[in-house]
Amino acid sequence: MSSPTKTTIHQDPFKAWKSLVFPSVKVSDVFSSVLKATLAIFTVLSISLFLYSAFSNPPQWLSCRGCITVAITGHRKLTNGHQTSSGAYYNNTSIHDVKTNVSHILFGIGGSAKTWDQRRHYCELWWRPNVTRGYVWLDEKPPAEKTWPESSPAYKVSADTSRFKYTCSYGSPAAVRIARIVKESFELGLDNVRWFVMGDDDTVFFVENLVGVLAKYDHNQMYYIGGNSESVEQNIIHSYDMAYGGGGFAISYALAKELVRILDGCIDRYASFYGSDQKVQACISEIGVPLTKELGFHQVDIRGNPYGLLAAHPMAPLVSLHHLDYVQSIFPGMNQIDSLKRIITAYKMDPGRTLQHSFCYDLTRKWSISASWGYNIQLYPSLVTAKELDTAFQTYQTWRTWQHEPFTFNTRPMSPDPCERPVQFFLDRVDRNGKDGSNTVVETLTTYKRQVEELGKDCSRLDYAPLLDFLFVNVSTTSTLDHDAWNMAPRRQCCEVINAKNGVNNTLQVKIRSCNQFESVTPP
Ligand SMILES: *[C@@H]1O[C@H](CO)[C@@H](O)[C@H](O)[C@H]1NC(C)=O
Ligand SMILES: *[C@@H]1O[C@H](CO)[C@@H](O)[C@H](O)[C@H]1NC(C)=O
Ligand SMILES: *[C@@H]1O[C@H](CO)[C@@H](O)[C@H](O)[C@H]1NC(C)=O
Ligand SMILES: *[C@@H]1O[C@H](CO)[C@@H](O)[C@H](O)[C@H]1NC(C)=O
Ligand SMILES: *[C@@H]1O[C@H](CO)[C@@H](O)[C@H](O)[C@H]1NC(C)=O
Ligand SMILES: *[C@@H]1O[C@H](CO)[C@@H](O)[C@H](O)[C@H]1NC(C)=O
Repeated sequence: MSSPTKTTIHQDPFKAWKSLVFPSVKVSDVFSSVLKATLAIFTVLSISLFLYSAFSNPPQWLSCRGCITVAITGHRKLTNGHQTSSGAYYNNTSIHDVKTNVSHILFGIGGSAKTWDQRRHYCELWWRPNVTRGYVWLDEKPPAEKTWPESSPAYKVSADTSRFKYTCSYGSPAAVRIARIVKESFELGLDNVRWFVMGDDDTVFFVENLVGVLAKYDHNQMYYIGGNSESVEQNIIHSYDMAYGGGGFAISYALAKELVRILDGCIDRYASFYGSDQKVQACISEIGVPLTKELGFHQVDIRGNPYGLLAAHPMAPLVSLHHLDYVQSIFPGMNQIDSLKRIITAYKMDPGRTLQHSFCYDLTRKWSISASWGYNIQLYPSLVTAKELDTAFQTYQTWRTWQHEPFTFNTRPMSPDPCERPVQFFLDRVDRNGKDGSNTVVETLTTYKRQVEELGKDCSRLDYAPLLDFLFVNVSTTSTLDHDAWNMAPRRQCCEVINAKNGVNNTLQVKIRSCNQFESVTPP
């Protein structure tokens, strides 16, 4: 008896709509009759048009390949739909023949021979030999006496760039070499490449999610996809219009084809720009292609503890993380690589759900639960509004000046007083119950363990005592958040507390599921 379900019935939406559309009907009868007549004619016309197209052969709305896919899958990105001017739909190499998969991506990782041995651990977390395609581009040949690790991408040595201008006083001319990786990758002329994805040697990609995000877009059109910095000062100094290279970005084949023709000239024209990513963006702006922002790319331009940022991930699949050497470990008491490995165990079970939020209330005990799946659970001894739960705790400072603001998203302070904080649980293990048979429900179980504070650091107030009785939170889900779910209108999932009494074996049981109609996180 602890359902968080709360239904709110809104006023009749059709009524509101009517008053918007016919605001002046009462004002003038003449106007009203004209409007009625127009509507009548319009209705007759629409019906006849509908009948015509339905019974003509072939039906008009099925007469192009793009439209067929729209009709069948229902939720293809609009950009793949009815825009027929390019002709891309009418030949046999359109995206509708084969869905974009990992083999269509060519990665270009900016590395250097001297630092690869330290940085490769990040790359090797996500690189899958013989599955992911691409190269790490080095400044020089690695020492001959060392064998190149099999778990790393193969390397290529970048072409000499000494002829290019670089005039940014506080940067490194290596930016020129790294900006040219997209061109050198393109010029390899490899088969079946739809996307060129650039990343740093310390970028961790979440490949399935990256593929899912790119598959929404038509690589035969010119796309430049990535994300901004989290830091306002970085965006001001560099650009709000660019995809930050550490978070990684994707350039469609069609765009790369045009970009490589002008890139070398741009590099000299924008010699004063600090970074490779900024030079590439300047060049793309000459072509006239804007950045398509995807919220799952993370530059992680912050200092301190990334906890607040990760536990409030936006409603978009997690695509990348970066700067992991510059922030504290994602999990308390673990090193960064082991922390990432732990998140990846959850990620492998349900890539699209990783870090996704769900909130619910236990109305009998007046508690709030905020889950960031695969990472963290926050338990509050009060009913906290969804708006507040949605806002990131500020557990970090700005990248450049270590200030408390500003960021490109809203934050709320994390009080040092344990009685003004939630009780925290971090991912401990991941299990899967049931078999993948046709009739069996497959349940993914993630277990989160309470962060045990030093003696006397827990809140000793009475209302916190029952929360601190729990050592674990077990969260079950019975479906994955796959790409099909992500191609629909986004909505946060709902959750509910299952055990009514204090939990079996100090465990709070929570179930995450899709929300019902009229269900919302609304206090009574
Ligand atoms: C498809 O055909 C059009 C027109 O024939 C051509 O311009 C375009 O390059 C083709 N697209 C691909 C990907 O082959
Ligand atoms: C292209 O597609 C059309 C319709 O699906 C098909 O009839 C034609 O044979 C295809 N052409 C090639 C070269 O595959
Ligand atoms: C990806 O698509 C290609 C066609 O371009 C296909 O040959 C290949 O089998 C697919 N790979 C995977 C892993 O689905
Ligand atoms: C990758 O493929 C090559 C050639 O097919 C093979 O020799 C190698 O063992 C494979 N590596 C892995 C890690 O599967
Ligand atoms: C919680 O999950 C863990 C790990 O799967 C499991 O061992 C434990 O029995 C679960 N606890 C309860 C009370 O179900
Ligand atoms: C609770 O703990 C006991 C003893 O460790 C164990 O036998 C039992 O299976 C656990 N119950 C659940 C639901 O995990």
